[in-house]
Amino acid sequence: MGLFNNKKSNELPSVLPEHIAIIMDGNGRWAKKRGLPRTAGHKRGANNFRTIANYLNEIGVKYMTFYAFSTENWKRSKDEVDTIMELFKDYLNEALDRLNETNMRMIFIGDKSVLTDELQALMERIETESAKNDGTVVNMAINYGGRQELTFACKEIAQRVKNGELNPEDITEDTISANIFTKDQPDPDLIIRPSGEYRLSNFLIWQSAYSEFWFDNVLWPDFTIKDLNRALNDYANRQRRFGGVK
Ligand code: FPP
Repeated sequence: MGLFNNKKSNELPSVLPEHIAIIMDGNGRWAKKRGLPRTAGHKRGANNFRTIANYLNEIGVKYMTFYAFSTENWKRSKDEVDTIMELFKDYLNEALDRLNETNMRMIFIGDKSVLTDELQALMERIETESAKNDGTVVNMAINYGGRQELTFACKEIAQRVKNGELNPEDITEDTISANIFTKDQPDPDLIIRPSGEYRLSNFLIWQSAYSEFWFDNVLWPDFTIKDLNRALNDYANRQRRFGGVK
């Protein structure tokens, strides 16, 4: 049992998003402000990921997606990329040990094929062993890009057309949704991006068509449960119309 074992802290609204996605931004600036190497920011960021993911699990958010590494992040120094991959590996080992305890289901979205064999094996084990869990679904976006995801989907669909299994006239929005990494999951209700940047950066571009956004200047390593509760309260007061009238 955790800190929030009564399921709701009194700062929480009664309506919670079913799916929350988070862009963990600002690790580098957090470190720079303190005269530390960027890698120190990522270490703090990875720890904060644990805090926030555990909290979301405890308050009963059913789906969460975290942007850990984009298809563009390879442009960073080898030292920085290696550190992020090391932090990711540490977390995977930890998650593997705790799958039964947390009852979380983990899914890795993105192109895993270029990651090390060790990381790929860990991710595969976690996905297989957690597939039966019926708790929170955690999507970790690693070597992920929204355009890459849609390109994969197009290839899958084109192959089915080529095999004679699908008529082009029968392709619908549902066909696309069924061929992306988050298939069978609801689209994110709320996308959170801290650190003062106001963009999606190639994150969940198909799934975010009707998502609500929450931006704030706080840097990810400083983003607390209080900040998250602020986002949840803002979300609860939004009017979602999905293109209709209310
Ligand atoms: C964005 O901040 C953050 C990343 C590109 C990496 C996020 C990775 C982690 C939090 C660690 C991964 C491991 C786990 C377990 C999730 P930035 O570096 O772009 O910050 P800046 O904009 O201030 O430079």
